[in-house]
Amino acid sequence: MVNEKDTNTESVPVRGQWTGHLGFILAATGSAIGLGNIWKFPYITGEYGGGAFVLVYLICVVVVGLPLMIAEMMIGRRTQENPVGAFQKLHHRGSPWQITGWLGVASGFFILSFYSVVAGWAVAYTFKAIIGFTGSPEQIQNQFTELVTSPIDSILWHTVFMAMCIAIVMGGVRQGIERWSKILMPMLFLILIGLMFYGLFFTRGGSEALKFLFQPDFSKLSAEAVLSALGHAFFTLSLGMGAMITYGSYMKRNESIMKDAVTVSFLDTFIALMAGTAIFSLVFHYGMEPGQSVGLIFKTLPVLFKETGPLISVPFFILLVFAALTSAISLLEVVVSYFIDERGWGRVKSTLLLGLAIYIFGLLSAISSITLPFRGKDQGIFDILDFVTTNYMLPVGGLLTCLFTAWVFREADKIEEFGSKGSIYHLFSIIVKIITPIAVIIIILHGLELLPFMNYGNK
Ligand code: PHE
Repeated sequence: MVNEKDTNTESVPVRGQWTGHLGFILAATGSAIGLGNIWKFPYITGEYGGGAFVLVYLICVVVVGLPLMIAEMMIGRRTQENPVGAFQKLHHRGSPWQITGWLGVASGFFILSFYSVVAGWAVAYTFKAIIGFTGSPEQIQNQFTELVTSPIDSILWHTVFMAMCIAIVMGGVRQGIERWSKILMPMLFLILIGLMFYGLFFTRGGSEALKFLFQPDFSKLSAEAVLSALGHAFFTLSLGMGAMITYGSYMKRNESIMKDAVTVSFLDTFIALMAGTAIFSLVFHYGMEPGQSVGLIFKTLPVLFKETGPLISVPFFILLVFAALTSAISLLEVVVSYFIDERGWGRVKSTLLLGLAIYIFGLLSAISSITLPFRGKDQGIFDILDFVTTNYMLPVGGLLTCLFTAWVFREADKIEEFGSKGSIYHLFSIIVKIITPIAVIIIILHGLELLPFMNYGNK
């Protein structure tokens, strides 16, 4: 069973399936845990001022993220289809709901294009770690600016990362995605625990970091921060673009979707908070600025790694690359599975062609910081893609998925996928019908500064 070839034979449209329950959990966790947790969560938390942002993000994970993850897995397992096919299968061929799937495929395309650039930075830092970090903290921090403003380096590492991603997705569900996730996710977990303990107990920044992360100061909470907290809940849990529909479609029956969704969301949140604690302990220990934008982890961690040496830094960056890989492959898988299922392309052909297209589009993000003053007033294509996909495309995709699940998905099918129709199912129904959609709509309107009764100043 295990070494049965899955969908990697050209033009044989047999769908892959996870070898077992653990395979699914690890792959879904692998998709969720990635740069979103270790790179993005700390940097946006730093930008939006800490505690209050974290609190809104945690509320979004529970109220919006968890129910939606359950919904996406249910849709995927029910239909055994890619996101576009799934909505049609549950409604009817040509149904307008397939737009949700389309939006997902587009989001996967755009997100991967800039995600690969950041993952490329992590690859570059793996090599820097092998050589060793030397010099003053300022000199170490400048290495980041040098990297992102050098067109050759940025493009080189983006190329290396996309090549790895394409190679794994070409291998298919079992041989590629599942096998790697099983080895790498547990290792990442261990190393992060180590870094967090180091930050908490061996630096002078530990308690300040905890205060920064967990003591909310609502005066710092802008409308944009609330929208970003929602967007980040989608981004970090891989929701709103059909990744969990696609992964759920390779899932076997008999497993409790709710338990799995709780496990994945919990692990994802836990990892983000651990990464945040580790990084902000260092930030405060060295008296650095929390709001250092996209460079935060690349500027702070190497200063510590200079002291701890390559024994810690090399494994850390290798695992960061792998965390990024297990997420990137799920982004690519959404796009690829659409072409396999709906267009009848072989896995190899779709992975190569789509991977190449994403790679080429990603070049724009790779040179984004060169063509514009880096994260100055002007926003480069990198920032715009990140902002629009995370804060608008994913929430809108999630909203449509939620409305579909609440009002179109047949009740009997839902109950069968959920596994019971007891009180927890009723709670789920009420949340998906009312609470999640209203929360998402309010936050999007708030982000656009369009909520009536709110005073948005004279902006
Ligand atoms: N969840 C991934 C991360 O946190 C990114 C991702 C987003 C993956 C959307 C798939 C879909 O890094």
